[in-house]
Amino acid sequence: MSSMPVSVVDMDWDAFDPWRIQPFRHALLDHPLLQSEQLVELGKRCRGTTRWYAFNSDVTAGTDFDEAAQLFPCAKSAVDSLRDIGKANAWVLLRHIQADPLYRELVDSVINAMQPMIERKDPGLYYRAGWIFSASPNTATPFHIDRSHVFLFQVRGTKTVYVWDAEDTQVCSDRARDVFHMSHDLSRTLWNESFRQRAHVFQLSPGMGVYMPLTSPHMVETSNEASTTISFTYNTDATRRNAKVHVMREMLSHLGMTPPDFGRNPVFDGAAFAAASAIVVCRGPGGHPPACPSLRKKTAYAVAD
Ligand SMILES: [Fe+2]
Repeated sequence: MSSMPVSVVDMDWDAFDPWRIQPFRHALLDHPLLQSEQLVELGKRCRGTTRWYAFNSDVTAGTDFDEAAQLFPCAKSAVDSLRDIGKANAWVLLRHIQADPLYRELVDSVINAMQPMIERKDPGLYYRAGWIFSASPNTATPFHIDRSHVFLFQVRGTKTVYVWDAEDTQVCSDRARDVFHMSHDLSRTLWNESFRQRAHVFQLSPGMGVYMPLTSPHMVETSNEASTTISFTYNTDATRRNAKVHVMREMLSHLGMTPPDFGRNPVFDGAAFAAASAIVVCRGPGGHPPACPSLRKKTAYAVAD
């Protein structure tokens, strides 16, 4: 597909557009750190931290992602679910795997391989992270948006990924993205079955993947077999600008103002970006850090929260 030698990800980099959903193929299937036994070991090292999240298979596309663990608790621990994910009736996420020294090497090896091609179109890569999803058969990942660009790699099993465009305001409004960037609140990101008709739909099997731009809404359903998926995420100068504009829009909404549609008024968006950036400057050294990570200092790796 690509004329550039890429050992990990094979996609049409010449056609890569950081704001367009795009499929790819990858060569991570046999990576030792993605085998079941190693995932169990990683799960053990995540015990007692915030670096895991799990719920049972009764969740639906419309479940509030942030409430899912409380509403649909797993019968077994996350580690025990990982040991037998095929029969666990569970969805287990190992978060921020870059915080684990072994897995940081994997995150770096994959993102380093892609970084030159990414930055030809989308410079300023920072806040790199990795996430491993293990899910039992017939289990959904609720409809949601994320705070970074996402490369999703299917490793084992098959699943259907529904993705909507980053600028699709019919399935996720400007205000939903505003409040999400301000406080990571998904309460305005609400599922409707009719959305399926306007989705980009990918039937992923091992070796396949899909790139999803910042805040592209998505929802996932596993097939009748268990699934393992790893995603690599990062932010760039452009995602930071996008998030800052959304944060300023949300602040103006709290003041009773109605911002114009996102992306339709370059003068407004430029002023909103400058104002959001000024807030950081005004805080100054030693000031309280802004609530929103998009306004914080850039760091090479995402910070577990
Ligand atoms: Fe996601």
